[in-house]
Amino acid sequence: MRSVLVCPPDYFDVVDQKNPYMSRKVAVDRAKARSQWDCLCSVLQQNGCEIQTIPSVEGLEDMVFAANQVFVGEKAGYGKFAVPSRMLYASRQREVPFYTEWFRQHNFQIIELDFDNEFLEGHGDMLWHPDGSRIYAGFGFRSTEGGVAKFAAALSKFDIPVIPLQLIDPLCYHLDTCLCPLNNEAALVYPGAFSAPALESVHKFWKRVHLLSTQEAHSFMGNGIVAGSSYIAPRMTPQLKAMLRSEGLTPVIVDTSEFEKAGGSCFCMKTFLP
Ligand code: ARG
Repeated sequence: MRSVLVCPPDYFDVVDQKNPYMSRKVAVDRAKARSQWDCLCSVLQQNGCEIQTIPSVEGLEDMVFAANQVFVGEKAGYGKFAVPSRMLYASRQREVPFYTEWFRQHNFQIIELDFDNEFLEGHGDMLWHPDGSRIYAGFGFRSTEGGVAKFAAALSKFDIPVIPLQLIDPLCYHLDTCLCPLNNEAALVYPGAFSAPALESVHKFWKRVHLLSTQEAHSFMGNGIVAGSSYIAPRMTPQLKAMLRSEGLTPVIVDTSEFEKAGGSCFCMKTFLP
């Protein structure tokens, strides 16, 4: 069974504009957000995940996006580790100590980086290759190139290569909106989100690249979760369903409309634990 960490949306809200999705002046329906979050949790459970919860904190309106505050992994001979993020926005920086403490209490070794003026946003921008052989690291909007370099230097002691990927589309401000590993050979990729050298790297490291359209990427269809043999996302086109089926995955839809008002969907709302 895979464990997954989530944070309930008790204080979830849109109070400022941290990404282009947050520009619209729309109110959050917190009861609806709660039922969407409950639905995501039960779909994860139905797909073999054990849910672990970190309590939400009043005033931290984005804390529900549990993918961002730390980067987690495990290395043979070292054990489980967590690298605390340095979030670009002050309100989100305040979430990090709560998550760091949770991971410390759950026996993860905490690897603190000295960030100076650099930023790094956890599993929003950094994705494991499913077999653990390397990490893809997006930068350009939230994480910085220097932040990724500091992370890569820290991980070099584990012999885990970090592949920097420059992001160029503000609507794909995190890597998890435009690259979604499906298995060791295949990924969903929105090509318009990457600089030319980054897109070349992506093609080099994946045997099968399934291209997402602009409309698919900008409506979070690539921000899905692979759990068991399901792909969980907020909506799907017939083309996306066909790509998933060709990889042996079953499309499962979970509505995340409330969370999309804050610029996040399924993938952003959890961290898989090693
Ligand atoms: N409002 C949040 C922010 O802008 C959304 C985070 C979405 N998370 C993600 N992993 N893409 O920081």
